[in-house]
Amino acid sequence: MTYVQKAKENSPILTLDNICVNFYEKSVLKNVNVEFYPGEFVGLIGSNGAGKSTLLKIILGLLSPTQGNVRFFGESAKKGNRQIGYVPQKVFLEPNIPLRGRDLVALGLDGHHFGIPLPSKKRKKRVDEILEAVDATGYADSPIGKLSGGEQQRLLIAQALLTNPKILLLDEPLSNLDIKSAYEVTKLISEIGREKGVTIILVAHDMNPLLGVMDRVLYLAEGKSAIGKVDDVFHNDVLSNLYGYPVKVLHVNGRIMVVGGNNSGLNGDSNNNYCVESEVNI
Ligand SMILES: Nc1ncnc2c1ncn2[C@@H]1O[C@H](COP(=O)(O)OP(=O)(O)OP(=O)(O)O)[C@@H](O)[C@H]1O
Ligand SMILES: [Mg+2]
Repeated sequence: MTYVQKAKENSPILTLDNICVNFYEKSVLKNVNVEFYPGEFVGLIGSNGAGKSTLLKIILGLLSPTQGNVRFFGESAKKGNRQIGYVPQKVFLEPNIPLRGRDLVALGLDGHHFGIPLPSKKRKKRVDEILEAVDATGYADSPIGKLSGGEQQRLLIAQALLTNPKILLLDEPLSNLDIKSAYEVTKLISEIGREKGVTIILVAHDMNPLLGVMDRVLYLAEGKSAIGKVDDVFHNDVLSNLYGYPVKVLHVNGRIMVVGGNNSGLNGDSNNNYCVESEVNI
């Protein structure tokens, strides 16, 4: 029995029920229906502007869908749910900001204005635990501006994990990392997800680092969505149906490339027959 089949024995932790999002005249998401299960790792893939960040904001309750419902454990989703951890797409850490790594992580507790703060001993213990979980103890006392992109990314993930969320949403956490760091960070996220039973939804352009760890892929194109195992989604018929014109999934030297005709209105060189929509290494 596969991990996804096992996960599906549980009730969904999160349900997207017929989600539609329009910005002015533009329809960005059309009838997206997905159920997410406890502890699964889902890669959220799509071209620029496909609606990936918008979908995460809908899940977080930061944005209301034009139509449809989000249910978390069967209940309507609401803003500020501490059971959902989030690392946004663009986090700019000022190089001279006078904060240590551990201070950045602790903001995960302080950033929420409600409730009684944890006593300082408990806070320190929790921060130390989570720093260790992301393997960041060694640089926890360094100024964050001096740390590498991969080190900063680990601290941001630690911050999002501090409240023991049931779901972790990561918007392009690998985009500024070199290949080695991208693999390391992905492995770390996957291990934390498995160990703690956290559902991971990770947005990425390059799926290569995700292939060994991802249970399912959610592909967005032209506002529509397809969810399933990599081989089921990266299929000519499935993706052509999403894009609304023929696209091909090519296997080239162990890589998967999704190509579409340039009369599709998408980016591409007019001298070529096809332009690359997305690319996957396997
Ligand atoms: N608040 C908003 N008002 C109007 N249009 C918006 C708003 N937010 C997003 N959009 C539009 O919705 C579309 C989807 O945006 P979104 O940021 O979700 O894309 P994305 O898939 O995350 O892209 P990227 O890979 O570039 O991050 C884009 O065309 C964007 O311009
Ligand atoms: Mg985005």
